[in-house]
Amino acid sequence: MRVVSIDGDGQTAEQLRLIEASRPEVAQGHVLIRTACAGVNRPDILQRRGLYPPPPGASPVLGLEVSGTIDSVGAGVEGWKAGDTVCALVNGGGYAEYVSVDARHLLPVPKGLTLEEAGSLPETVLTVYANLMEHGALKSGETVLVHGGNSGIGSMTIQMGKAIGAKVVATARGADKCAFAKSLGADLVIDSDAGDFVTPVKDFGGADVVLDIVAGDFVAKNLLCLNFRGRMVQVGTSRSSSVEIDLRRIMQKQAVLTGSMLRPRSPDEKARLTAAVRAHVWPLIEAGRIRPVIDRVFAFADVAAAHAYMDSGAHKGKVVLKL
Ligand SMILES: NC(=O)c1ccc[n+]([C@@H]2O[C@H](COP(=O)([O-])OP(=O)(O)OC[C@H]3O[C@@H](n4cnc5c(N)ncnc54)[C@H](OP(=O)(O)O)[C@@H]3O)[C@@H](O)[C@H]2O)c1
Repeated sequence: MRVVSIDGDGQTAEQLRLIEASRPEVAQGHVLIRTACAGVNRPDILQRRGLYPPPPGASPVLGLEVSGTIDSVGAGVEGWKAGDTVCALVNGGGYAEYVSVDARHLLPVPKGLTLEEAGSLPETVLTVYANLMEHGALKSGETVLVHGGNSGIGSMTIQMGKAIGAKVVATARGADKCAFAKSLGADLVIDSDAGDFVTPVKDFGGADVVLDIVAGDFVAKNLLCLNFRGRMVQVGTSRSSSVEIDLRRIMQKQAVLTGSMLRPRSPDEKARLTAAVRAHVWPLIEAGRIRPVIDRVFAFADVAAAHAYMDSGAHKGKVVLKL
């Protein structure tokens, strides 16, 4: 089968190549998926550049989410059969024609969605659900502030927040990306390149939850925006992972500062999250209240172009590889 390999230090997208490799074995409790589409996520870029190594035991091949057709089913798997169309969170190995997946991490393709759309969902939806709904404990009527409203994570956060009845404030950089975030349903969008976001967020009524993918100097500002007993949830650190904050504000506001990573979670924990997403988010997708937001689909052979496109930062929403 063809898989994507990194020919060099991964600093540039041009170093991605398709090579031949043997198909993965189907372990007990796993299924082998014939990949139709693989979502491209920022963590793939970080892994390519050596900044996000795969955890022990994970495939070294890039790719954290796929859609496709079940080719074969391992011992002990119930409820799935060869020929089923599915999408799945994978522990690496998504940029390949076949990938072995823990059957508990499978989701059906939501009714009415294409395989391109389904392949863009699992990593993003599980990350947003875990951080917005579980760690952030966002409730209907509350307000969430999300940075990078144009990103894969941001575009899903805006939609999930609105779908559960919350108010959503998003930041993005530049008028075009702000307009995109607004089109997804954000109540207020602030151009973080044009000025400070703290005053507009406070004028809006403050934030009960902040989902932050950038960190750095934004963290102290997030704390200023936070309402009493608010929750700040960190899922990325693209500005900087070292920050200075005034801890007295955490005490005054009885605030919670937390965060999480999806990939290092145990298979059992990912299975629990997958089941929660199937129960709580899949119906919202099938009802059309949350939709996949795909910017571009690239052919598998054009994986280097797909990464170069994401490297450029020009995308809005998700980038997908079609095999
Ligand atoms: N914790 C987890 O489990 C988990 C899982 C998945 C993803 N993530 C993280 O979540 C983040 C988003 O992932 P994604 O796949 O949605 O990526 P993406 O679509 O490439 O989005 C990246 C976003 O970050 C913004 N950004 C980057 N640098 C910035 C800066 N210095 N200041 C302000 N904004 C900046 C970008 O803004 P522009 O468009 O203006 O450049 C864009 O909105 C990444 O940091 C990724 O590592 C974490």
